[in-house]
Amino acid sequence: MATLGARKVPGTGPLDANIVIVGEAPGETEVIQGEPFVGVAGKILSSMMNEVGLLRNDCYLTNVVKYKPAGNKINPLFRDNRMTVPTDKMKECVAELKVEIEAIKPNLVIALGRTAMWALTGRTQTMKHRGSLYVSTLVKDQKVLVTMHPAAVARSWVPWRQIIPADFIKAIEESKFPELYRPPREYVIKPDFDQAIYHLKALENADYLSFDIETRPHKIVCIAFAGSPDFAICIPFTRGFQNYWSLEQELEIWKAINKVLISPAKKVGQNVQYDELYLARFHGVLVQNVWIDTMIAHHELYPETPKGLDFLASLWTKEPYWKDEGKSHNGKIKDADLWTYNCKDAAVTLEIAHELYEEMMEEGRWEQYLATMKFRYPLMTMSLQGVNFDKKMQTTLIHSYQEKIDKLQRGLDSAVGEPVNISSNKQMVKLLYITLNLPVQTGKTNKPTADMNALLSLRRRYKKYKPILDVIITLRKLRKLTEGFLQVETDPLDSRIRCSYNVAGTETWRISSSGSIFGGGTNLQNQPKGADEDGVVRKLFIPDPGYLMGATDLSQAEARVVALLSDDELALHEFESGQIDVHTAFAARLFSMEYEDLLKLKESNPKEYKHKRNLGKMEIGRAHV
Ligand code: URA
Repeated sequence: MATLGARKVPGTGPLDANIVIVGEAPGETEVIQGEPFVGVAGKILSSMMNEVGLLRNDCYLTNVVKYKPAGNKINPLFRDNRMTVPTDKMKECVAELKVEIEAIKPNLVIALGRTAMWALTGRTQTMKHRGSLYVSTLVKDQKVLVTMHPAAVARSWVPWRQIIPADFIKAIEESKFPELYRPPREYVIKPDFDQAIYHLKALENADYLSFDIETRPHKIVCIAFAGSPDFAICIPFTRGFQNYWSLEQELEIWKAINKVLISPAKKVGQNVQYDELYLARFHGVLVQNVWIDTMIAHHELYPETPKGLDFLASLWTKEPYWKDEGKSHNGKIKDADLWTYNCKDAAVTLEIAHELYEEMMEEGRWEQYLATMKFRYPLMTMSLQGVNFDKKMQTTLIHSYQEKIDKLQRGLDSAVGEPVNISSNKQMVKLLYITLNLPVQTGKTNKPTADMNALLSLRRRYKKYKPILDVIITLRKLRKLTEGFLQVETDPLDSRIRCSYNVAGTETWRISSSGSIFGGGTNLQNQPKGADEDGVVRKLFIPDPGYLMGATDLSQAEARVVALLSDDELALHEFESGQIDVHTAFAARLFSMEYEDLLKLKESNPKEYKHKRNLGKMEIGRAHV
């Protein structure tokens, strides 16, 4: 079978265009109409271009490959699986593209997706290089901007529908001139003691100050400061695994760093909480006057998009992707490369911060950003303090639960006649649907499943198998409890449990929590209440002497917001009266019952009442939407 179709789809557009847009290869619609980007991907492309004022008629559109590949598959045009060694046919296509671009001499070429990026720059990872500007390896001195292929939008609307147009805005700017300007940056990376002190002293008077630490577990190995986006200094603490400074020098350096970090300068950082925690825990430094945390500010503006520094830089600056810099083939970093990298992080972060500040002001997000930032300090204190934990009880519980698990497992193995791994879906599917010959239950992907829903449904319907299914279900629960919650690691420092909180951890602005950045710990926001018979997990956390533990919860918060936004006067009245349980009231409406009658069910049939109230609770939002 021929790899490529017979009908050529040539490039189209003005031959003196400032922008050439390069895709991969035409599809069926393009072949029929004899023009690139007129099918589904083309329509998405046009709508994104229109949105930012990048006029299609002003651009020259073409593809790396001018013929439709069989099955729209491009990989047969490469000799290797990684798609880096082209076949002769692909070489011909790329050579033709070169001649095409050289004839037009645009100020900018936009590479849409991996094939175009590879042909124009030799790079292969679109996710890393998207948003970066490069000099082409194919056409001499040609400036290239990489972005995603519009087909990515069809696969995943969020976040690409938002990000590609942002790249097009950059493209419009860059199409005004042919040169590739890199942001000028100067770094000091191996300061001697006098130099370090001199620079730190000067930084005390900076207006804005970006800082960034690099760490090994439990150790800050260097810290970089940038007082402006074009100059940064890295203060190292280690050279290889040796100390960089004498003990006396390091003490002086930390005193100077402390002064800088408590100075009135407006502090800037990416995920500042991480740096603050390290600085506070290991050096007692409490950073003052944090102005912009770029991660939180970006999240405030675009919560559905990634928030790593590399992504932020691709969106807000002209700094090309640098996150692989300094990494050797085995992933180790040389000191000098790490220090440079550290400086670049600090400098780029400051540049991003100014952009984010302006955008937040323009978009009216500043107040909300400040409100989010208020959480930082209490959360840091909570992370540092950790929670008192009953390690003795933990050991006893793990032991007794393990005994229960072993006993049940032995019973299960002997009933089945061979060892059964209840965590293996393959083994469980075999046991349920072949050995026990139960009707096959399928999951979302239509494949046979032995997940908890399948087990519960089988147990309900096939009473004869209830005993064995009960054992499997109990084993699953006990193992989840033991492995997921009881076996949590305490901090070796003081046997307390610590976690890290992230105020930018969810798209809905709920705070997320995870294991401690210092190792061990766990998500402290999801400890099970009654998943086990006696609620044992929560009993492991004990208040410090003189304190009590409590929990607060907003009463029906979402329902109140929904009622307010949808102007539901009846619901608002019910909330205001404070006399009525709104979820029950809504359930009553849902089931055409009188409120009082439904309430009576609470006594006569609590299960039914709970079920109906729950539906009312869930449906209240949906109904208003
Ligand atoms: N996808 C491409 O890469 N090019 C086209 O012309 C159409 C879809």
